[in-house]
Amino acid sequence: MTRVYLVGAGPGDPDLLTVKAARLLASADVILYDRLVSMEILALARPGAELVYVGKEDGCAQETQRRIFAELAMNALRGRTVVRLKGGDPMVFGRGAEEWAYLSRLGVAVEVVPGISSAVAVPALASIPLTARGVARSFAVTTGHAKDGEAQDWRAFREVDTLVILMGVKHRANIAATLMGHGRPPGEPCAFIENGSTPRERVVLATLADVAAGAVEVASPAIWVCGRVVALRAQLLAGAPPTALLELPLPSVTERTLSVAAGPGEPAPCAPALVFPSRKH
Ligand SMILES: C[S@@+](CC[C@H](N)C(=O)[O-])C[C@H]1O[C@@H](n2cnc3c(N)ncnc32)[C@H](O)[C@@H]1O
Repeated sequence: MTRVYLVGAGPGDPDLLTVKAARLLASADVILYDRLVSMEILALARPGAELVYVGKEDGCAQETQRRIFAELAMNALRGRTVVRLKGGDPMVFGRGAEEWAYLSRLGVAVEVVPGISSAVAVPALASIPLTARGVARSFAVTTGHAKDGEAQDWRAFREVDTLVILMGVKHRANIAATLMGHGRPPGEPCAFIENGSTPRERVVLATLADVAAGAVEVASPAIWVCGRVVALRAQLLAGAPPTALLELPLPSVTERTLSVAAGPGEPAPCAPALVFPSRKH
């Protein structure tokens, strides 16, 4: 049966592709790929596979989406194995659900292959934990680029500890001012991470007030992280233990602790974790 694979390519670094995604790239007849998919990842395609660029440029997103639907339908109905390759995860601001619904209506089977979303991976790679004990217990991911005429309800995010904003570069000053208007502190630390996971990665640090004042130079694609966790970055990078993270009295690691942990016949230092069988495919 004809099948379209909606595949996540991760944030850019080919090493962050899933094994399943790499396997599908190596066998697909046609790969429809987005703007943020790197050349190194496309190089994993089967020799002879057709690579079709369907990235959206500013101002013609709707037209491109119509073309994507047409390419998906044409290739699937011809019985070809189609990989629809999207940056990050296909179901996180990737219009994966719309393409799935469209293909289902045509009777084409769809399989989703999740990818590592830039929303969580890019901050982690930039040494910013989205949650940290004693610092942040919640995070939310949203877009700074709402559909025309659709106002974003920024009030909903005032209580979230860590706010992650995708596609927020263009309207950053307005968004920051609105967030402050809803009660987020002007001195709240922010980080913009451009081109995360690639050799062009760049991290820009600022306060929310700096962003609102238009004082922050940043280019797309970037992830914007807003919250106290951003301040942990410098401490983690400096190797200085962030005090909030080290409240537990941790044992110092000595040769004795290591040999107890590894010694044959010794009781386990703590109860073993539950092990679930992996899902069969
Ligand atoms: C249309 S959304 C797609 C998100 C994607 N599906 C995901 O899960 O990562 C595109 C936005 O994701 C963010 N983004 C994706 N890859 C990125 C990267 N490598 N570095 C920084 N931001 C990235 C940017 O905010 C960009 O404008």
